[in-house]
Amino acid sequence: MCGIVGYIGNKTAAPILINGLKKLEYRGYDSAGVAILGNDNLKVLKYKGRLSNLEEKVCELTPEGNIGIGHTRWATHGEPNDLNSHPHMSKSGNIAVVHNGIIENYLEIKEFLESKGYEFISETDSEVVGHLVEYNYKGDLVKAVIDCLNEIEGSYALGVICTDCPDMFVAARKDSPLIVGLGDGENYIASDIPAILEYTRDVYILDDKEIVSLTGDKVTVFNNYGIEIQKDVFKVTWDVASAEKSGYEHFMMKEMCEEPKAVRDTINPRIKDGNIVLDNIKLTDEDVKNIDKIYIVACGTAYHAGVVAKYIIEKTAKIPVEVDVASEFRYRDPLVTDRHLVIIISQSGETLDTLFALRESKKKGARVLSIVNVVGSSISRDSDDVLYTWAGPEIAVASTKAYNTQLAALYLVTLELAKKKGLLETEQYKKAVEELSKISDAIEDVLENKEVIQKFAAQHCNAKSIFFIGRGLDYALSMEGSLKLKEISYIHSEAYAGGELKHGTIALIEEGTLVICPMTQDSLMDKMISNIKEVKARGATVMAIAKESNKHVYKAADVVVTIPDVDSFIAPIVAVTPLQLFAYYMALEKGCDVDKPRNLAKSVTVE
Ligand code: M6R
Repeated sequence: MCGIVGYIGNKTAAPILINGLKKLEYRGYDSAGVAILGNDNLKVLKYKGRLSNLEEKVCELTPEGNIGIGHTRWATHGEPNDLNSHPHMSKSGNIAVVHNGIIENYLEIKEFLESKGYEFISETDSEVVGHLVEYNYKGDLVKAVIDCLNEIEGSYALGVICTDCPDMFVAARKDSPLIVGLGDGENYIASDIPAILEYTRDVYILDDKEIVSLTGDKVTVFNNYGIEIQKDVFKVTWDVASAEKSGYEHFMMKEMCEEPKAVRDTINPRIKDGNIVLDNIKLTDEDVKNIDKIYIVACGTAYHAGVVAKYIIEKTAKIPVEVDVASEFRYRDPLVTDRHLVIIISQSGETLDTLFALRESKKKGARVLSIVNVVGSSISRDSDDVLYTWAGPEIAVASTKAYNTQLAALYLVTLELAKKKGLLETEQYKKAVEELSKISDAIEDVLENKEVIQKFAAQHCNAKSIFFIGRGLDYALSMEGSLKLKEISYIHSEAYAGGELKHGTIALIEEGTLVICPMTQDSLMDKMISNIKEVKARGATVMAIAKESNKHVYKAADVVVTIPDVDSFIAPIVAVTPLQLFAYYMALEKGCDVDKPRNLAKSVTVE
């Protein structure tokens, strides 16, 4: 949530900040602002609404200066308005601060500062930071920031500039992401790599409680005791285009079209001579045999990938699996021990609840294997083992290619666990690996036939409520289909297990209610057809997603979207794509902002 960016060098800071914020807008988009330092003069511009409002003002007022910090906000404390927008100023107006995260003890600090004569003008938690830095400032900005951070509880990524220090600025992080971009005579900070990729590929990935001072020529990193530390330079290898729309109307469509490649990149390099080789994962056969139980912990879409994994791991590797939403897991004192494997799933690798669930699991002695998309992210660094999904940057708030690749990675892990436990015959294993390596072609087919879905969405975009029902793996898929629809089209929707609907919710089915049925599980086909009959008897219109050869579905559903005939076991990797396309076209028909849905942000770094 919230994106921050900072620049110091010999160029005009404002356009660089605006450019960076554009790349970070996916992190929050209810207001935006910049603070620019030039000729000892600190100029702050900040406005409610989309970044374009700020950009217009910056073009009009052309603030001069070679040092600046910028922010794009996702409101937590205080409604989105000009005053609550960042940067926030200190009492004297000499210090400006941008903040991503939550200062949990801000009320206490505020009370203290008020007793010292400080006045607050916003409703935010972040405003305390500028005042507290000023209160601690005795001529050394780094020290003042460290002293301030010692008082603060909660999470932060910060950028701090001060009129007394016209040749430097300070940044810091704890539990919110922040990187430093290393340029030639200029340096940057940003919440994420795309913001600075146009200028440099060399970055420092800051760790928790690290503080950094930046001048045009020098970047110095300190620990929280103010002791200088050395950091390794991380070289970004992906290109700028992967974080651009590249001619697509929306990132979401671009990212769905990238699914075949993303899945291929996640699976194929890990298959060597017909065997799965999972990077550096150090789980031995003995380790696997000693796993009593697996906990899978994640949020949102990543959680739904975990639900699929529960079905496939239990069936194939015969290990009991519990799937948990991270925000519940971390507070329910789960019975995790050193005989358990915890699988963490996260696209961003920065989701705060997921990160804390990981730390909780490690504290209890579990081994943690993470499935993460962002290299060097907090979750990847805190895990015992990491399996990267090679989806490339995902910018649209609605997760698409990340989900397909998370599934791909989870299938690899499942087969590996089953093999290590000696549960798969050589032929069975070989066939499963072969099927998996061909799955991308099937997604390509689905993407080539998207018009059926587009047409169906155009006919039904006025639906008020939509149900997704499925059985087995299709139930897990239904959850994801329903979330996708809700988050970008704002249509109410629920996912139900096919057999569960009649235990209450079928009361909501009436003439014209839309019901979407993923039906990829051969063994559950007859049961699903009965469920379709039940809802149709009450007036529902049904769209099914089924394999080409499944002729029975045509007799039951009103519309059938077909996917190629893949093995039922791996069908979710393909069958999710029509559900994503359906949500996309529904949102488009309704005129919604597909890439930046209301109230949401891409990276959820607050609880
Ligand atoms: O980055 P993560 O995978 O940890 O994010 C978890 C959820 O916030 C995320 O999957 C969210 O549900 C999606 N944006 C939904 O499309």
